Amino acid sequence: MDHPLLQHKLSILRDENTGVKDFREVVSEIATLMCYEATRDLPLEEVEIKTPITTAKFKTIAGKKLAIVPVLRAGLGMVDGILTLIPSAKVGHIGLYRDPDTLEPVEYYCKMPNDIAEREVIILDPMLATGGSASAAIQFIKNYEVKNIKLMNIIAAPEGIQRVHHDHPDVDIYCAALDEKLNDHGYIVPGLGDAGDRIFGTK
Ligand code: PRP
Ligand code: URA
Repeated sequence: MDHPLLQHKLSILRDENTGVKDFREVVSEIATLMCYEATRDLPLEEVEIKTPITTAKFKTIAGKKLAIVPVLRAGLGMVDGILTLIPSAKVGHIGLYRDPDTLEPVEYYCKMPNDIAEREVIILDPMLATGGSASAAIQFIKNYEVKNIKLMNIIAAPEGIQRVHHDHPDVDIYCAALDEKLNDHGYIVPGLGDAGDRIFGTK
């Protein structure tokens, strides 16, 4: 996504001098802006509305139900920004962390809305690095028989995009920036560092 507001806010996140409070606020603002793009294809229906002047037909969002699923921890930072635009969305949670040695995702928590199979799901995680966590999160949600899944990442590495496209070609990826590469520790370059640590102030 190349909107100037997104690019500006992303540069704030990348700056190592940005503190926890601003980092959190800007992650949330970016999620709101990205949500605007990622919901562009929501179906509309015509309804009759009486304005103070006359009655006419107008568009509203058709009955499609949405759920958002943040990948813990860092995905939590994007939830409020999405709910600003879609306040009635249900929220599931997946807990995954990357093993620092193998870089493989390890699952530690999962709680989904009961009717998740009937909903379109947007998975939230600020970082798409090797793609291991995203691919596992998508598979998890597919196991609940969800048909329509989107992935929303603030920054992605080419390796992560390739992995998700390979494992889940049916899932569209929405990202604000596509960075250059991964370093030897699996961090995105230039990236923004460890998103979870920067959102929660754990480093
Ligand atoms: C980060 C990030 C993603 C994952 C991306 O989480 O939020 O979930 O790494 O890396 P991958 O694409 O190589 O799987 P992390 O494992 O650091 O856990 P945390 O959110 O608890 O800090
Ligand atoms: N997870 C992060 O938080 N940052 C990266 O650069 C890669 C994975």
